[in-house]
Amino acid sequence: MSDTIAMVDIFIMGKRYTVPETLTIMNAMEYAGYQLKRGCGCRAGFCGACATVYRIAGDYELKVGLACQTKVEDGMYLAQIPFFPGRKAYYDLEEIKPSVAHFAQLYPEVYRCLGCSSCTKVCPQDIDVMQYIAYIQRGDFAKAADISFDCLMCGLCVSRCPVNIVHYNAALTARRLYSRYIARPDAFLAERTRAIEEGKFDAEIGVLVSANQEKLQKLYDNREIEK
Ligand code: FES
Repeated sequence: MSDTIAMVDIFIMGKRYTVPETLTIMNAMEYAGYQLKRGCGCRAGFCGACATVYRIAGDYELKVGLACQTKVEDGMYLAQIPFFPGRKAYYDLEEIKPSVAHFAQLYPEVYRCLGCSSCTKVCPQDIDVMQYIAYIQRGDFAKAADISFDCLMCGLCVSRCPVNIVHYNAALTARRLYSRYIARPDAFLAERTRAIEEGKFDAEIGVLVSANQEKLQKLYDNREIEK
């Protein structure tokens, strides 16, 4: 069996590059010589910074994906989305309530959902986006918060919505409403906050504040992880 890695042709900004077929789009761009300063964050499918649009030569379908998770394919024409210009409502959380009436003022487009499911189909996190929009419409912010919890805010759902819903921002507001008005206060969190305010962790915090990068890295690598 040969150890040779097959190469494929991809197109970045319209220019052709031949890259190993085992690479992700992000690694292929670097292999081609691009230095990624935007559209690149965690490199592990968590931050949503690397939303990418592409089309395979000869195929009519416009596809989307996360550059750090999607493997290159032969004939891929690529364009990065460095930032998705989704509308964001501004509000004071203390002045709104978890009600359909308040939500409709912030994000009226949510109530225009056609139920086409394009948002769910495109989500790289496999979140049932259309379902959490349905929960928001009904005023069930607890369920909307729960389903949308893993959202990366990459904006790909918005890129496909025929009625221009900005799902990820609507979901963020739903989660804020949930945590401010619906979730039961967490006793442990309250106790730990009180202890911090009383200065019981001042020594530990002082160590972190004065640590250099190397020491911080060591502390991070050896941190206790809750089971
Ligand atoms: S770089 Fe963070 S999700 Fe791709």
